[in-house]
Amino acid sequence: MTPDDLMFKPGLMKGERVLITGGGTGLGKVMAEACLMLGAEVYICGRRGGVLDDAAKELMDAHGGKVTGIACDIRVPEAIHDMLDQVWSDGGALTGLINNAAGNFISRTEDLSPRAFDAIANIVFRGSFFVTLDCGKRWIKEGARASVVSILTTWVWSGGPFTVPSAMSKAGLNVMTQSLAVEWGPKGVRFNAIAPGPFPTEGAWARLSPGQDAGSARDMGSNPMGRVGEMRELANLAVYLLHPLSAYVNGQTIAIDGGAWNAGGGAFSALRDWDDKRWARARAMIRGANEQDRAKRTV
Ligand code: HXC
Ligand code: NAP
Repeated sequence: MTPDDLMFKPGLMKGERVLITGGGTGLGKVMAEACLMLGAEVYICGRRGGVLDDAAKELMDAHGGKVTGIACDIRVPEAIHDMLDQVWSDGGALTGLINNAAGNFISRTEDLSPRAFDAIANIVFRGSFFVTLDCGKRWIKEGARASVVSILTTWVWSGGPFTVPSAMSKAGLNVMTQSLAVEWGPKGVRFNAIAPGPFPTEGAWARLSPGQDAGSARDMGSNPMGRVGEMRELANLAVYLLHPLSAYVNGQTIAIDGGAWNAGGGAFSALRDWDDKRWARARAMIRGANEQDRAKRTV
């Protein structure tokens, strides 16, 4: 990204310290980049140390600043605790956490085993909660303010057929967001979430659109905007929610999907493809039916 991709003034995130789980790849890496470019100190975690080292180096070579990669499997509460000890002793409390790490694959639900369910839920549902909980205990003890942003999906409202363990887990995090916004908001720790539509990443496409290339995914005819999301669009929203100037936004889950979720909900969403002729014909037919009714009423 270049500064022109961001809608904020340089230095906006100076003094902020942000941890992004799963920040070595995909959406997490782009959000890390945005925070870094705006002056934040950034921590990224994931299971693969090499991926984190490469990402941290790439981002610092491009933009300067400080990105620290810490190998951590968020399925393991003790590993989370060690990671956060390292972060806190490196420069004090985090001011922001992005719960972004996830696992997912498409499958008919009747083909899932308990282990398959756990493979997703242990990362998304339990792992994200354990990271949040360990951070929260520290923030509350220190009286520190912080902003937590969780990356969900619009499936938390619509359901997610063929991705049921992910949809269930993300829905749990949605409720965590709503609940802790109220419980911990008065203590200075606020909670919001982002529900992205399709943003082509290697990780998601390999598991949700097997055989299709994330790099070539551009058009999306069924989306009201006719396209997939741009990484910078998501990054700007994440920065907004992390920054103290959005402090009155608390307990919200914001979709960034071009309106796709709303389009799926209405009975007449497909009518946006109608042209003038089709609308004129429909109008004439409706008027004709009304006339017939009126004629019957006056007999
Ligand atoms: C059915 C499957 C399966 C599949 C694995 N399993 N893949 N079952 N269909 N496609 C079952 C296995 O048979 C096994 O159960 C159990 O799951 C565990 O299998 P493992 O191979 O040991 O799984 P694991 O190594 O834990 O890897 C699974 C994973 C992995 C955690 C999901 O892919 C991963 O690490 N992913 C991280 C990155 C990722 O997924 N990114 C995408 C995020 S995208 P049995 O009983 O046979 O032993 C995203 C987008 C959402 O969330 C919204 C888009 C619009
Ligand atoms: P991705 O690149 O595969 O990102 C997933 C990240 O999570 C990886 O960096 C992975 O790193 C990390 N991770 C997985 N398991 C972990 C664990 N146990 N401990 C620590 N880190 C772990 O996919 P993405 O598309 O960028 O997805 C990022 C987030 O956006 C996810 O929450 C996803 O559900 C959400 N989302 C994506 C889309 C989309 O269209 N791309 C749409 C809606 C929501 P390691 O494998 O190295 O651990």
